[in-house]
Amino acid sequence: MIKAFIFDLDGVITDTAELHYQAWKRCAEKLNITIDSKFNERLKGVGRMESLELILEHGGKQNHFTEKEKRIVAEEKNEYYRSLLIENQSLEMLPNMHTLLLDIKHSGYKLALASASRNAPLILQALGITQLFDSLADPSIVKGKPAPDLFLQAAALLKVETQECIAIEDAQSGIEAINRAGMFAVGVGEVTYLKQADYVVPTTKELSLNEILVRWWEKEY
Ligand code: BG6
Ligand code: MG
Repeated sequence: MIKAFIFDLDGVITDTAELHYQAWKRCAEKLNITIDSKFNERLKGVGRMESLELILEHGGKQNHFTEKEKRIVAEEKNEYYRSLLIENQSLEMLPNMHTLLLDIKHSGYKLALASASRNAPLILQALGITQLFDSLADPSIVKGKPAPDLFLQAAALLKVETQECIAIEDAQSGIEAINRAGMFAVGVGEVTYLKQADYVVPTTKELSLNEILVRWWEKEY
């Protein structure tokens, strides 16, 4: 029986995945590395330092910087990201997400966040939805996606079993993490990147509590 829903944040609840991409693109350009939206699929869901490693590897510069220099670049990326958040004054939820979160809550399911972003609490606060979540997994103390740890931590905080959870992600690394956690995986985005998910919708507009539960039931029985 399903008892809880665990959500990714960037690219699922808000459109901040695009802002992370813009900030990395700017940092990469300063390092003379070009990244495009196809490469960005590999960055989605991945933590800040790990993302920088992937970018450096992509540009053939993995051994060009000291740990201290890498920290400075990562800090700078975070500053770009935060200034984009400020410029983008009206930070909004993706279409239909508020309704979906409320439906889940009002139907008596528990709700947790499993985001790799250290900015997640700030974003939830800006959206005014912190109180909807029973728990937030903490990316500073567990391994990042594609490891299952953030989802396992979220389930443990909610005191539910992993097979009682449905998790929603827009990233390849996130779907892998959900699968490794033994949960039902819902993907939002292009099926090309999310084929390991149990159920994929192109955008958040197509997400409904009822349909997700039907898909889970069909897989289970
Ligand atoms: C994930 C994003 O949610 O958080 C990644 O998909 C991002 O793009 C990661 O790198 C870490 O975010 P932050 O805010 O801690 O740099
Ligand atoms: Mg995401």
